[in-house]
Amino acid sequence: MGFNIAVDGPAGAGKSTIARRAAKELSFVYVDTGAMYRAIALGLLRRHAEPEDEAALADALEGIEVNIGYEDGVQQVYLNGENVSGLIRTEEVSRMASRSSARPQVRAKLTDLQRDLAAREDVLMDGRDIGTMILPHAQLKIYLTASVRTRAQRRYKELLERGEACSLEEIERDIEARDYQDMHRETAPLRQAEDAVRIDSSDMTVDEVTERIVRLARERMEQSGGRCG
Ligand code: DC
Repeated sequence: MGFNIAVDGPAGAGKSTIARRAAKELSFVYVDTGAMYRAIALGLLRRHAEPEDEAALADALEGIEVNIGYEDGVQQVYLNGENVSGLIRTEEVSRMASRSSARPQVRAKLTDLQRDLAAREDVLMDGRDIGTMILPHAQLKIYLTASVRTRAQRRYKELLERGEACSLEEIERDIEARDYQDMHRETAPLRQAEDAVRIDSSDMTVDEVTERIVRLARERMEQSGGRCG
């Protein structure tokens, strides 16, 4: 059994950047579960399957196999053997991932894969339901969040740097709507596990948050008498 760290939280809180860095410092395997949902979403788009259509979804999922691997320590995600890591960050895939990840059949497809990885390795896994559903016995759970205003400002800056026109108010409204949807969906809603450490990154730098998680992990590892304890 590996040492398991679960990192959950809303979109835009800096989860993936921080999780990747903390995993590297701890020499843990970083597992980005969002990429798995994105790969399934791409599979559904290619099959023109509507996730709300139960029968069409079940049919499409039978032909979809998702796996992950690592190249130079960087996670790659495979859809039926094809490396689709470069194809899953589009707006179209984001929208489909948001719809399809609310479907129980889609979540069920990924549960075993995520649990198997955590059973074999020391993992830092990030997502929405890792501490609450996937790894309820994780030795360390982090709930990483930031205010709507901060997350909107970060996104605004990112879009401006890419030369895309946007309005801060519109981004704020989008984030609020997405939070509401994630926290109120029927299957695996986003919520903080009771035993999770809550970190609000609104007024913290990436370095500060990373350091805090690394320190907490080292303390827990010591308490449990080593990684495999
Ligand atoms: O973190 P991300 O933006 O790459 O996630 C993509 C989508 O998948 C997003 O709509 C949230 C969803 N997701 C989820 O429901 N459960 C997870 N463990 C990870 C992501």
